Amino acid sequence: MNILVVGANGAIGQAVVEAFCEQYSSSVVYAVSRSHYTGAKRKQVVPVQLDTVNETAITNWLSACKAKGTAFTHAVIATGVLHDDNVTPEKRLEDVSAEAMQHYFQVNTIGPSLWVKLLVGHLAQGGSTVSVLSARVGSISDNRLGGWYGYRASKAALNMFVKTASVEYARRAKHTSLICYHPGTVDSSLSKPFQRNVKPEKLFTPAYTAAQLLAVIDQANTSESPYFIDWAGKSIPW
Ligand SMILES: NC(=O)c1ccc[n+]([C@@H]2O[C@H](COP(=O)([O-])OP(=O)(O)OC[C@H]3O[C@@H](n4cnc5c(N)ncnc54)[C@H](OP(=O)(O)O)[C@@H]3O)[C@@H](O)[C@H]2O)c1
Repeated sequence: MNILVVGANGAIGQAVVEAFCEQYSSSVVYAVSRSHYTGAKRKQVVPVQLDTVNETAITNWLSACKAKGTAFTHAVIATGVLHDDNVTPEKRLEDVSAEAMQHYFQVNTIGPSLWVKLLVGHLAQGGSTVSVLSARVGSISDNRLGGWYGYRASKAALNMFVKTASVEYARRAKHTSLICYHPGTVDSSLSKPFQRNVKPEKLFTPAYTAAQLLAVIDQANTSESPYFIDWAGKSIPW
């Protein structure tokens, strides 16, 4: 079995690589990241360094995989940004800028959407899944607090892309379930500045949310795809 994890140097991405290795010990796990893979060295992990938001780079790598007969049973796209040198979550309309919006959409929407686009011809027959790391704050119907304009909008757009792709996947990759996964609040550099008001029991380890994602993947059924679902296996309104 071949498994793909994109964003493999992130806290959740790395934990997902580990969880797959534990659960499917005879699988090959491709750990794709923009930088050199820093996770534990394991025989079954194949580190791949490429620009994960660049369509040409993704296409070339997937073509090389296909040439070797590699099709993926599970793919998890674990990339995303909430704050970095370019962006800080906006508190009010005046904080919104075109540059920040572009950055949020580039990383949170366009990158993962390209993987959903390009993977359609690279999935194993007879039951496969493609999961993207989304966020509950991307729910349009469950948005009472406001704020975080760029992050919310880019995750909502990612959800819409996946929902739209699911119509075509039902024809072209009919054994594949698509999953938009909310991991809960997870202790990582992404959530670090926003952990103050989170109760300790609600701040999950990357390993915990990775295990919960694998449980969701295990239960996934094409008749219910696409999913917008949280770490507890509960559906989230789109
Ligand atoms: N942590 C939370 O509480 C939480 C809550 C809800 C949703 N999420 C979502 O879960 C996902 C993973 O988050 P995390 O907590 O593991 O955060 P993290 O440790 O900061 O990892 C972020 C990941 O995004 C990639 N990334 C960051 N900036 C990028 C850029 N400019 N271009 C391309 N890729 C970039 C990195 O990929 P490389 O491997 O290439 O470095 C890394 O894998 C994100 O989509 C996030 O929105 C997290």
